[in-house]
Amino acid sequence: MTELGTPDPRLAVIVLAAGQGTRMRSATPKVLHDLAGLPLVGHVLATARALGPAVVAVVVRHERDLVAEAVATLDPDAVIVDQDDVPGTGRAAELALAALPEDFAGDVVVISADVPLLDADTLRGLIARHRADAAGATILSAVLDDATGYGRIVRDAAGAVDRIVEQKDATDAERAIHEVNSGSYVFDATGLRQLLPGIGTDNAQREKYLTDVVAAFRASGSPVAALPVPAPWIVAGVNDRAQLSEVARQLNALIVRGWQVAGVTVQDPATTWIDRTVTLAEDVTILPGSQLRGATSVERGATIGPDTTLVDTEVGERATVKRVDANLAVVGAGASVGPWAYLRPGTRIGEGGHVGTFVETKNAVIGAGSKVPHLSYIGDAEIGADVNIAAGAITANYDDLAKHRTVIGDHVHTGAQNVFVAPVTVGAGAKIGAGALIRKDVPPGALALSAGPQRHMMGWVEEHRPGTAAAEAARAADHD
Ligand code: UD1
Ligand code: CA
Repeated sequence: MTELGTPDPRLAVIVLAAGQGTRMRSATPKVLHDLAGLPLVGHVLATARALGPAVVAVVVRHERDLVAEAVATLDPDAVIVDQDDVPGTGRAAELALAALPEDFAGDVVVISADVPLLDADTLRGLIARHRADAAGATILSAVLDDATGYGRIVRDAAGAVDRIVEQKDATDAERAIHEVNSGSYVFDATGLRQLLPGIGTDNAQREKYLTDVVAAFRASGSPVAALPVPAPWIVAGVNDRAQLSEVARQLNALIVRGWQVAGVTVQDPATTWIDRTVTLAEDVTILPGSQLRGATSVERGATIGPDTTLVDTEVGERATVKRVDANLAVVGAGASVGPWAYLRPGTRIGEGGHVGTFVETKNAVIGAGSKVPHLSYIGDAEIGADVNIAAGAITANYDDLAKHRTVIGDHVHTGAQNVFVAPVTVGAGAKIGAGALIRKDVPPGALALSAGPQRHMMGWVEEHRPGTAAAEAARAADHD
């Protein structure tokens, strides 16, 4: 088997994804629920492709168009197979087999789209054993303390696999068996083609069970075996949202461990969530309560968290991002963000820049070394290098018809509580007084003032609020 090179012409993978997923109680098809940044079926497709098969076929039916579209995006080479109204995993496999090239001979791996943690190495082991035994069917099994709901592996007196019985069809003695069918198998394609048409639906669920071919292989004289996985979580299925969260926690633990081995400090794995699609460099530190989602990447030496959510965000070397919510933002090398900042799509903070406390940014380019430290909204703006934006700045970018840009040149210093009524440009090196409302472009190097002159109406309080504490205080101060 090869991973990226030439596909193995004697290997096909069938992914079963046609079931209803009723127990999720969701408008979203079960196999499209998110797990660590990919839909469930995405994890299984990645595993299927990693085996280097000649063909990956995916069987769909429930919410057919949605699932088929997602599959086409995730793996454009996958063959979509529509299941008809005969229900059951056996029918799904039968139709998928019929969709393989006519001359295909070799081994067929069958896996389920709702078993997302099953990895390619485990399947490679199963395929190797199947081929070494020249078997008809090799089943991946698991030994569970509580086997409720699963098909049981029934072995004969000599310990050889005899058949699989579904929970709903099992006798009490069979239900006491702890070895279960994981729903993942390797079959000899020729044998499977011959045997599936003979499988009926005479069972508790009136479905055509794929599991019934195991007894059929055995009856035809082909060797059949079941190999237990070393840990049950590898084959955990997602049937409801409680199982989805358990699988998510398990996968997250594996992802976090993988990054720790790769040189990332993760202080609290239990409260750190990292999607499978994230990339991290050595010597990144992630503090508790942080979520790194989607196409987020973090460069060497950066510190993320605590309590930070990054979605599709790039963080440069040595940057610090603390108590931040960021989506589609770019944080430059050595920049610092937070605590309590909200970076919306299109935010780009230059090298060594700073976005501080209670600052919201959107579509904003903030130049190298520039600072927006406190209480500001910067939207549709372009701020040059080494600019200091004083507390309480607002870019008034929206005039109820359209969004407009604010452009601020290099080395500008603004005043506290400036409002920039866009479209407006502040020239390089300009200074702005506190409280100014900037409606007109400021020429480079100018001092812009717009707040009116301050006036004092002497004695107003004593005259208009006689006898109040304020009037008393004013009188006392006057006599000092
Ligand atoms: C199945 C196995 C059971 C095993 C369990 C492991 C059968 C009959 N039973 O039961 O022995 O212990 O998996 O998780 O196979 N699907 C289709 N078309 C269908 C029905 C299902 O494509 O007509 C797909 C589903 O989308 C799912 C997979 O097959 O991905 C398994 O179906 P599900 O209904 O979950 O089977 P289980 O009852 O879990
Ligand atoms: Ca299932």
